[in-house]
Amino acid sequence: MEVVIRSSTVEVDRTVADIVENVVRSKPAVLGLATGSSPVGAYAELARRHREDGLSFAQCRAFLLDEYIGIPRTADQSYFSFIRSEFVDLVNLPDVAVFSPDGEAPDIEAEAHRYDRAIMESGGVDVQILGIGTDGHIGFNEPGSSLQSRTRVKTLTEQTRRDNARFFASEDEVPHHVLTQGLGTIGEARHLVLIATGESKAEAVAAAVEGPLSAFCPASAIQWHPHVSVILDETAASALTLADYYRYAYANKPSWQRP
Ligand code: F6R
Repeated sequence: MEVVIRSSTVEVDRTVADIVENVVRSKPAVLGLATGSSPVGAYAELARRHREDGLSFAQCRAFLLDEYIGIPRTADQSYFSFIRSEFVDLVNLPDVAVFSPDGEAPDIEAEAHRYDRAIMESGGVDVQILGIGTDGHIGFNEPGSSLQSRTRVKTLTEQTRRDNARFFASEDEVPHHVLTQGLGTIGEARHLVLIATGESKAEAVAAAVEGPLSAFCPASAIQWHPHVSVILDETAASALTLADYYRYAYANKPSWQRP
């Protein structure tokens, strides 16, 4: 696992965009896209590179991590709509090549299996962008999620519903249930890139990176993965015991080492 601590959120966004650009320029990439606030700056930076440097997403496909249950896809709060307004509509990634779990499917269990299969049949995700919840979730795998879980329905914690209330008119409107890729599903991506900024994420980041591998902090499942980049600003890194070592390792990174 590589932990990269950047001096500003702009630097965080650039570092994440560098990783994604590298993959997109090397192959017809399958992107794993998170929603929420954390990746928005990186998506904006990728959109700028598309406009100004000709970075093309025409050959890419993309899979979202999760979706609310009980919200129509057309609603602004759905992740289907969010990813379009924050990324897909700003680049030349074909809309038909962007896939997400359908929270309105009549048979939600069948939809979960279908989505897992679709990811596998695409050849798998090359680079998976992740945010982290203040309770340590990735995707919407809340504490207690099986480390081998597949796409399925989860119940949001009250903490997550409070954190996400800012996207809704009131906390009451935040759905209780979601369809989310499981920790096992996420772990099949070839490269995981976890983004965290702000002090509110510091404890969850420390638990994920330096705590025990435990379903209590689902994000700690990244420790089990062979290729992980954790991209942080100083505040999100502020509870890390080995922060100085991560800075030192990054500053002395050999040129041959993969990004
Ligand atoms: C969103 C997702 C969630 C968020 C997490 C952090 O698709 O899977 O895990 O990444 O809740 O949200 P923000 O970035 O809004 O703090």
